[in-house]
Amino acid sequence: MKKDIQTYEDIIRLITRFYEISFQDERLGKIFKEISPLHLESHIPVVADFWEGVLLDGTKYRGNVTEKHFDVNRLTPLTKEDFDLWYGCWEQAVNELFEGEIAEKAKFRARSIADIMHYKMDYINQPR
Ligand code: HEM
Repeated sequence: MKKDIQTYEDIIRLITRFYEISFQDERLGKIFKEISPLHLESHIPVVADFWEGVLLDGTKYRGNVTEKHFDVNRLTPLTKEDFDLWYGCWEQAVNELFEGEIAEKAKFRARSIADIMHYKMDYINQPR
């Protein structure tokens, strides 16, 4: 039986695995390596702070996650397919490493945040 997500270190493991998986995907890999290159060493702790806030009542994240993705969306429009790819990698990483209530919450919250982000990007990307 796998354990549930319980600590900040668990979240770091999850995000590290998520990026290993998503870097293998052609489209996401291109975004993360070429279009808006990530410096994983500094990026992973920021994303971990965000998820600690969502899952473990952490209070360290001070960024604006939607704004960051508007920036990415200006470099390459983010589509429903992109968000589905992103979520597929996230779901795979969670399922590989963890199980339990918080693991389920990690998937559920990721799906809803991805859906809301997609809705906002789609609104911006519609030709008017
Ligand atoms: C199409 C799907 C997505 C793509 C291609 C994507 C790509 C990116 C990129 C390139 C960055 C770095 C931006 C920068 O530092 O300038 C970033 C940051 C981030 N992403 Fe995503 N993302 C996606 C969806 C999501 C979703 C659904 C979530 C949350 C559920 C998320 C959480 C984050 C967080 C927390 C950061 C750090 C924000 C900060 O620096 O304050 N991403 N993303």
